[in-house]
Amino acid sequence: MKRRDFLITAGASFFTGGVASLGLGANAAPFVTDLELQKTSFLLQNQPTKNMVSLSQNAPPPVIYGQQGKPMHLNLLNSLDEYTAMHWHGLRIPNKMDGVPYLTQLPIAGNETFRYEFTPPDAGTYWYHPHCMTMTQMASGLTGVMVIKEKIDSGFDSEEIINLRDFRLDKSDQLKKPYTLRGAARAGTFGNVMTANWLKAPVYNHKTGSLVRLRIANTDTTRIYSLFLTSTEGQIIAWDGHPTEHQIPMPTEQHPLLLGPGQRVDIACKMPEIEGQAINLIAKVRGHKKLMSTLLSIGPDQKRSLKELTPLPKNPLAKPDLKSAKIHELIFGWSPEGTEPNNGFCGSLGKTFWSINRVPWPGDNASNTSPVATLKLGNSYILRLRNSSPNLHPIHLHGLAFKPLRSNKRKILPNWTDTFLLLKNEVVDIALVADNPGDWAFHCHVIEHQKTGLSGYIRVT
Ligand code: C2O
Ligand code: CU
Ligand code: CU
Repeated sequence: MKRRDFLITAGASFFTGGVASLGLGANAAPFVTDLELQKTSFLLQNQPTKNMVSLSQNAPPPVIYGQQGKPMHLNLLNSLDEYTAMHWHGLRIPNKMDGVPYLTQLPIAGNETFRYEFTPPDAGTYWYHPHCMTMTQMASGLTGVMVIKEKIDSGFDSEEIINLRDFRLDKSDQLKKPYTLRGAARAGTFGNVMTANWLKAPVYNHKTGSLVRLRIANTDTTRIYSLFLTSTEGQIIAWDGHPTEHQIPMPTEQHPLLLGPGQRVDIACKMPEIEGQAINLIAKVRGHKKLMSTLLSIGPDQKRSLKELTPLPKNPLAKPDLKSAKIHELIFGWSPEGTEPNNGFCGSLGKTFWSINRVPWPGDNASNTSPVATLKLGNSYILRLRNSSPNLHPIHLHGLAFKPLRSNKRKILPNWTDTFLLLKNEVVDIALVADNPGDWAFHCHVIEHQKTGLSGYIRVT
C-alpha cells in the first residue's frame, strides 16, 4: 500500500464518522501524496451525475491531512484534457507553490504532473481547489478540505469534516453550465442541490456525551451559507483556520453564522447525553430551514465536558504594528465597460463586470496586469476594503493572514482570517504584516465575480 492510499483512506473516514488516526511519528518523513485529477460520476440526486471532477473514482476529493511544521509533497497528475493548477487556500507557503497560473506557475497541461512541496506553518482547517479552469472544475466538484493538525492533542474524542457545496443540475441530474451572465453581474448563480461531502444530509455517528471537533468548510462557488446547530452546547474554537482570539457566539436560528465561499469554522461540540439524540446542522435558505448534516449520539454516555479541552495553540502570526502601518485603499465594484477578458488556457466567462480600483482582471492570466498594491517585506499595512456595490463579496488574500479591525456598518471581531465577507456598501479596514514575499492573488471568492474582473494581486517585495 502506498502512502497515498493510506492518506486517502484516512481522509475518506469522514464518510463513516470517527477519528482519522494517522499515527504521526515525531520524526515522520514528508507526507507524500499522489493526486490525480480525473473525471468521475457520482450519485448526487436520483441518477448518476457524469463528468464530475475529483481526485478518485466515485468519491469526492479526499480530505488531505498534514501536520503543522511537517513537509508535504503533493504530486498532482492532471488526467483531464484541459489545463489546471491547484491552490491551497489559507496556507502561508512559498509563493511558487501557491498554484496561481501565470502568477506563480504555468498551467499544468493534460498528462503533466506538478509537484507541490511545502511545510504548513499553521495548524487548522484549510482547503484546496483549482485556480485555472476555476469556474468549471470547481463547479464540477473539485473542492476538498485540508486539515493541518496541531502538534498537541486538544482532547477531542472524534472529529467530523463537513464540506458544504451546491451543484447546479438539470432535470436528468447532469451538470448545467455553472453560471449565467445575469448571475455573474449580480450575486452569482446558485446551485439547486445543496450537499455536505457530496451527500444530502448525511448522518454521522459519534459517542453519546463525547466531544467532537466539527470542521465546516464552505467550498461553494457562490452561496453564502447561513448556518446554525440545533445545540448551543459548544464553542467556536477556530475561524478560517486560526484559533479565535475573540469569542464568536454560538450561532442560533435567530442569529445564524454567515460563512462565505472560502470560509471555515471549527466548533467544539458536546454530543447529546442521551443515545439516539442528535445535533443538526441547518442552513437557512430564503427563510426555509435546510438540513445539511446530522451528528447522532450512539453508545454509552462518555460524560465529557467542554472544560476538559486544551485550548488550541496560537499559530505563529506576526502582529501588525498599527502605528507605522501605511494605508492602501481598494475599491470593489463595477467594471468600466468593455475590457475583453483573456484567460489564456484557464477559461473565461467571456465578459467583464467587476473590478478592483476600476481595473478588471479576470485572474489566471499574466497579461495587462500590475499589482493592486505593492508592500514592503516585513512592514505593517492597513488595507481599506471598500465595497461600492450592493452585492456581498468574500474577499480573499493568498499567502498572508490578516485581521479585520473596523467596519462602517457593524462591530467586528478581530480574529485572524484569509477571507473576509464584505457586506453591501461596507468599508472595512484590515491589518497585516507583509511577511511572505511574492505576488499574492487577491480576489472575490464568488467565482463568477473573480472570473469577470473582481481579482488582482498584491506584491510583497
Ligand atoms: Cu481559495 Cu484564490 O483562492
Ligand atoms: Cu487562497
Ligand atoms: Cu464578489
